[in-house]
Amino acid sequence: MTPSIDVWHLSLAAARERFDDSMMLLSEDERQRAERFVYPEDAARFALCRATLRAILGEATGSPPRELTFEYGPSGKPRVADAIAFNIAHTRELMVCAVSRDVADLGIDLERIDTTTDVDVVVKHSFSPAERDYLSRLEGADRRRAFFQCWTRKEAYLKARGEGLNAPLTEVNTLSNPSGWTLKDLLIDDTHACCIAFHSARAAEFTISRWCGSPRPQTRTASTESSH
Ligand SMILES: CC(C)(COP(=O)(O)OP(=O)(O)OC[C@H]1O[C@@H](n2cnc3c(N)ncnc32)[C@H](O)[C@@H]1OP(=O)(O)O)[C@@H](O)C(=O)NCCC(=O)NCCS
Repeated sequence: MTPSIDVWHLSLAAARERFDDSMMLLSEDERQRAERFVYPEDAARFALCRATLRAILGEATGSPPRELTFEYGPSGKPRVADAIAFNIAHTRELMVCAVSRDVADLGIDLERIDTTTDVDVVVKHSFSPAERDYLSRLEGADRRRAFFQCWTRKEAYLKARGEGLNAPLTEVNTLSNPSGWTLKDLLIDDTHACCIAFHSARAAEFTISRWCGSPRPQTRTASTESSH
């Protein structure tokens, strides 16, 4: 059977207006976390992302979103008791969430293709020799896009493993699939790079959909075979 992975994306533009509604879906510890943010817009984005994650998992598991209980791995990766793999990522503008019952573990990362990031410094300190060599052959906007794509591949893989950026970053080469894992670049929009990593060497099918709550809206479908 071909593993199937659903990817949802949501604009965070209305996070401030939706703050009260979002908070109503959260658990006590999540509400306390939201209240600890210094800037209200960060609190609002966190609350909307977590409320949306609850809504998506609620639909996928058949549980009321408010009743889901998250547990956390040693580096903070959230999981639920149900055998469902999921992960989220967000920028200031956008959230993505991947969900699957067919893979053991998954991670997703999303980065805005930012023109102010000092690419050279990050490449020097965090990229593998093969990644550095690959990026040294590119210039300008192509190099910047490739840099963010490489970064999302690295972070998605380390999030799939639950390690996050605690891992030795220069030892992770994302130009090929790590053994037993698949990395797949996803196109969400022109201003972001996105990658999903999952624990399966088998080709997968994806639906990529904008989250607007139930019922399920129209989707695009992609498959792993079409990745590079
Ligand atoms: C995981 C990590 C890479 C996320 O980086 P980021 O660019 O800030 O955030 P992203 O948008 O990509 O993803 C954030 C989401 O990933 C999930 N997440 C958190 N820790 C995670 C981990 N170790 N592995 C996978 N996913 C994780 C959460 O759902 C989080 O959303 P939330 O903050 O709303 O709960 C980074 O926080 C990290 O390296 N964490 C590990 C460091 C650590 O050990 N911290 C101690 C906390 S216990």
